[in-house]
Amino acid sequence: MARVKVLDKTFETTYPESRILEAVGKVADAINSDMDGKDPLFLCVLNGAFMFASDLMKRVTIPSRISFVKLASYSGTQSTGVIKELIGLNEDLTGRNVILIEDIVDTGVTIKSLVEQCEAKGAADVRIATLLFKPGSCKLPKKPEYIGLEIPNDFIVGYGLDYDGYGRNLPEILTLVPEN
Ligand code: IMP
Ligand code: MG
Repeated sequence: MARVKVLDKTFETTYPESRILEAVGKVADAINSDMDGKDPLFLCVLNGAFMFASDLMKRVTIPSRISFVKLASYSGTQSTGVIKELIGLNEDLTGRNVILIEDIVDTGVTIKSLVEQCEAKGAADVRIATLLFKPGSCKLPKKPEYIGLEIPNDFIVGYGLDYDGYGRNLPEILTLVPEN
């Protein structure tokens, strides 16, 4: 298995590009069949989902639009937790069928906040399409509608996902090799 160094850590290929694109194709097929005639608006969650969104959209054959959003996290005025503000969303979501494109759903905290914000902006239906899903750590009330691959609770990089900002360019998905 190929080993790659990202900053100070070593990663090992877990999913080669061919396996990822197979999973992307499966997600696209499901969306093409479920959302035909529903004029969905895809919202790609930056930064991590850029590569998945690009390969996914090439395989989406139904009429649809795509826009890009980012979450800005900052400490709230109250001492409890973090407020996540949606930036870059210029579309009117009233009555729209929204599909959030995520790279990975881990605990689900990020995506849950996005779903709630889209609903608050009047979206009729909000679905989640995630390339990767870590069921071991997810606290969402229900699973994302579209999942490319279910993975163990390990730290990964590549195909858009980063370690301290690096590794997003790697075309495959690699898992952290534990240090002895
Ligand atoms: P959640 O809010 O816990 O679901 O985390 C989601 C975000 O954490 C993702 O959008 C990623 O940016 C990041 N993340 C979670 N797991 C990993 C990983 O294994 N590698 C890199 N980033 C990750
Ligand atoms: Mg992400």
